[in-house]
Amino acid sequence: MQTRLALLSNAGGSGKTTLATHLAYTLGAKGLSVLIIDLDPQGSVSLFCGLDDPEEDQTLSAVLRDDFDGNWPLISLWSDRVKNVQAIRGDLNLVQSQNELVLNARGAYLLADRLQDFPVEHDVIIFDCPATLGALPQIAISASTHLLVPLQVEPKSTSGAGKLLEWFYSTVRQLRLKPEPELLGIVPNQYDQRIAIHRNILEELTPQLEELGINYFTPIRFSSEFKNASARGLPLHAVRPGHSACKDFEPITDAILSAVGAVAHA
Ligand SMILES: Nc1ncnc2c1ncn2[C@@H]1O[C@H](COP(=O)(O)OP(=O)(O)O)[C@@H](O)[C@H]1O
Ligand SMILES: [Mg+2]
Repeated sequence: MQTRLALLSNAGGSGKTTLATHLAYTLGAKGLSVLIIDLDPQGSVSLFCGLDDPEEDQTLSAVLRDDFDGNWPLISLWSDRVKNVQAIRGDLNLVQSQNELVLNARGAYLLADRLQDFPVEHDVIIFDCPATLGALPQIAISASTHLLVPLQVEPKSTSGAGKLLEWFYSTVRQLRLKPEPELLGIVPNQYDQRIAIHRNILEELTPQLEELGINYFTPIRFSSEFKNASARGLPLHAVRPGHSACKDFEPITDAILSAVGAVAHA
């Protein structure tokens, strides 16, 4: 079975698309086949991967239409550097798709249904969600095996993450998902250890997460190189492979690899 990972947070700019693209690249470099599905109407995956804006019939909204025939609009990413990493792009038409989901009797399960009716072969699918909680992240959750939550290290993040997890668990219950998607962990992002407030937030957060039995990863450090790399349509690993922030992704990549292994042997 596939590992299907939803990247979810209720704050814009927390690092969902950065994580989605960097994990896709690092997993691809390890020989896995990976598909990013962009559920964000802003279509940031296209930008971060150096792709042009897609034609309407080449986006996720085409997949969600009633007349979808299984012809997935896949586009290869960084094909001169990694094999088997692909994307399905998002665009503004997803706003319309989202409105139509409520009229569909299987709306909340539409993406899971598409993947069941027309399977794709990838080892890992990464769902890059928009920041607003609603019908689009819901179709990602109902299609997922795992959840990963990036959290920008700033004062309001902790309460935001609490609300997000509440929404996630109530959605899982309402949709009666069995098995429940597993929370792989929280990923603190844009962390600068020289900033006292960043250190304080982590010091407060970690015992709370431990008490709740929630896994948290090594923070991804702040570096302006991330913006420089994504402006070139590339992950940091491709632009600056020796950069210290590249290593910050390793524990997450390992957790996904072990999920893939566990799922393969289940
Ligand atoms: N660790 C980091 N250090 C510095 N900038 C980052 C880091 N992670 C993400 N960014 C930048 O922050 C902005 C928001 O990140 P993004 O991944 O688009 O968030 P989201 O998808 O959650 O809205 C982008 O410009 C991105 O390049
Ligand atoms: Mg994004």
